[in-house]
Formats: sequence, C-alpha cells, structure tokens
Amino acid sequence: MSLEELNYQIYGCRKCRLWQGAKHGVPGEGPLNAKVMLVGQNPGAEEDETGRPFVGRAGKFLTKVLAENGIKREDLFITNIVKHISPQNRKPFDDEIAACVPYLTMQINVIKPKIIVLLGATAKETPRLEGIEYIEVIHPSAAMRFGKMRAKFREQIAELAKRIATINT
Ligand code: URA
Repeated sequence: MSLEELNYQIYGCRKCRLWQGAKHGVPGEGPLNAKVMLVGQNPGAEEDETGRPFVGRAGKFLTKVLAENGIKREDLFITNIVKHISPQNRKPFDDEIAACVPYLTMQINVIKPKIIVLLGATAKETPRLEGIEYIEVIHPSAAMRFGKMRAKFREQIAELAKRIATINT
C-alpha cells in the first residue's frame, strides 16, 4: 500500500472512538526515503487543526533542538503512535493504541527507516521490527517544562545527531 492510500484510511478511520472529537486525522509527514522516523504520542490541538504532526509548542521546541544539532526536520518522517487527538489531551487508552498501531507498522514497512526515535513513554509501544535501531528519548513537551529533562533531552538529541552522521556516510 502507498502512503497516500494509507493517509486516506487514516483520515477516514473509525476503528476507535477518537475520530469523534477530532477535526483531522494526522498521518504524519516526511520523505518517503527518510532514514530516521520520529514517533510521538498523538496530535494535540494545533496538529488537529492543521493535520500536521508536531507543529504546536512541543513541536516547535523539538524542531529547534533538532536544528541546533544540525538535524533538519524535513529530512525526517515525523508521526505519532495514535493518529487522532484525544479528549483533553489525555494519554490514549490501550485499545486506541492497539487500533492505531497497524497504521504505524505499515508506515514503517513503506519507509523502512534505519532509526526510529521514540518520543516519550507512549511511543514505546511502537512495534520493534528486525533490522531497525530504536532510540528512546524524553518527550519534547516534558523536556520543555522541566529543566532537568530539558538538559537530558538536549543531550539525547546531540547523541542522535552523532548516530545519524554515521548512517549518512
Ligand atoms: N505531541 C505528540 O506526541 N505529537 C504531536 O504531534 C504533538 C504533540
């Protein structure tokens, strides 16, 4: 299946309850041949409004820290484990994650990234596929709020940049 077809399925998805409170499904964005995929939890208000991942406050912070480390956001495929916003931004329930994960698995199978960066605890539910390196980092919205986490997050992204440099050579 192509990413376009997959996006259409995501836009029209009714497999769990979350579509009812959402303006847009947010499939994710980035090049088809991205070597690195970022996976967050699920869209927030600005993502729901625009249909694009990580464009709100946490997303802007993430984009800035990536850029500080020489990583261009547009080189990455950025998505979430759950493709619709949740009420009051609550953590998605297990059944919502289970319903949505097959979309992520299909995205991984199409893009075939070398590295998948898991942003925060919920993203750790991402299926672990053979031949892909998984790197767990703090979620940018937690990093934005708490000084200690912010410093750690910056270190983690600096490490990621070093790792990416080795796959690009
Ligand atoms: N937080 C997430 O986990 N994903 C987004 O797309 C935005 C905020």
